[in-house]
Amino acid sequence: MSDAPNSDNKPANGTSKRASRMVKVWDIPTRAFHWSLVSMVFIGILTGYIAPEWWMGMHVWAGYITVTLLVFRLVWGVFGSEYARLETFAFGPMHILTHMKEIITLRPVRHYIGHNPSGAAMIFGLLIVLIIITISGLLVLGGEENQGALAGVASYAIGDMAAEVHAFFVFALMAMIVMHVGGVILEGRLTGENLVHSMITGLKKVPQGTPPLAHRRARPLYAALVTGLFFSGAALGLENLAKIPPSGLVQLPANAAYESECGDCHGVFHPSLLPIASWQGMMQSLEDHFGEDASLDDDSVNEITAYLTQFGGENWDTEASNRFAILDPAKPYSIIATPYWVRKHDEIKPEVFKRRGIGVKSNCGACHTDHYSGRFDDQKINIPEEKKK
Ligand code: HEC
Ligand code: HEC
Repeated sequence: MSDAPNSDNKPANGTSKRASRMVKVWDIPTRAFHWSLVSMVFIGILTGYIAPEWWMGMHVWAGYITVTLLVFRLVWGVFGSEYARLETFAFGPMHILTHMKEIITLRPVRHYIGHNPSGAAMIFGLLIVLIIITISGLLVLGGEENQGALAGVASYAIGDMAAEVHAFFVFALMAMIVMHVGGVILEGRLTGENLVHSMITGLKKVPQGTPPLAHRRARPLYAALVTGLFFSGAALGLENLAKIPPSGLVQLPANAAYESECGDCHGVFHPSLLPIASWQGMMQSLEDHFGEDASLDDDSVNEITAYLTQFGGENWDTEASNRFAILDPAKPYSIIATPYWVRKHDEIKPEVFKRRGIGVKSNCGACHTDHYSGRFDDQKINIPEEKKK
């Protein structure tokens, strides 16, 4: 970054309090980008924090649109009109510090036609933070949920780590948004400029005595071409990535003995839902199975034990297999006693489980329409309604 950006975006003499002229500073794509990004970040934060997890679909879409916007903005930063270009606000660190000091000490701030140094630093910061947030988000989606383009390459552990990065940078993002809005208000007070209004109309006041501006034109055709090329390349890459089967999801063959012997009193449980040791322990104590006698002949016990050993939790890498691996020590054979199960279902009222079509908490398939695959996707939850006669 140079200290004097390569354009007319230099501080003019005097403050804009004496401004007289209005000039067009922000082109339409820059303004559209700004407000679209504001909406997507708003939707992302809202659906990420306060909405139930089945809003994940919308959250993920807000992420994809954010990526599209970021790519577009970087391209427009090269081919856009004068003040949209990154080079016009690539201020050096000293320049930025001086400007911040001016704002903080409430000294009359010098006027910049395009982005001022603090605003520019914020833009670069926001771009970087948003890139980290979207990439980590895609890793969480692929690793923890086994969805999206990275489902085949991101393990659960990677997704889990990415979730922490994601959360941390969302926090940083919110702090930056507060600073950004605060800066805009403060700067407006000090210079008498309405920066929000400028970002809507594209017009800004310039001080008396500013020489005529040498606007460089946008090159939308180049911008469209580069954006198009980028997304064709990305689509091709993602399509190939998406062909890799989701990591940690195993092809589960049906087992007649398991389904008939263990699906009588309750639905069959997906073998990934308990660690192998739990299955083996349970199979050795069927005569006292949750207060019932579920004993079987030796052949059936052996066959079912082998099946549950081959496809038990350790052989999967899904959200369910990882989370349900942490058991309640007092009830090592119970899925619904695991801390994760309890936490995930504590907002469901007890009477809901008593509805016809559900009956008991352990009737997973009543609400999770994809339980047979072991995925337990948020989008596949459908709680049966109370049927009235
Ligand atoms: C005689 C009826 C009966 C048979 C047969 C039976 N179960 Fe159960 N099972 C129960 C009852 C009752 C419970 C406890 C109530 C509940 O959780 O639904 C239970 C609970 C479970 C649970 C724990 C659910 C939870 O999270 O609390 C698992 C796992 C399970 N059974 C596996 C099996 C397997 C494997 C077999 C076949 C070997 C089997 N069951 C056969 C009656 C039976
Ligand atoms: C009454 C309906 C109902 C039953 C029965 C039920 N669940 Fe759920 N489950 C839900 C709901 C609703 C959520 C979403 C909670 C949330 O996101 O806040 C959920 C969340 C989950 C999740 C987390 C999904 C994710 O990606 O965050 C898992 C895993 C899960 N359930 C497994 C089970 C298993 C295993 C059983 C059976 C032992 C079961 N559930 C029984 C309704 C049910």
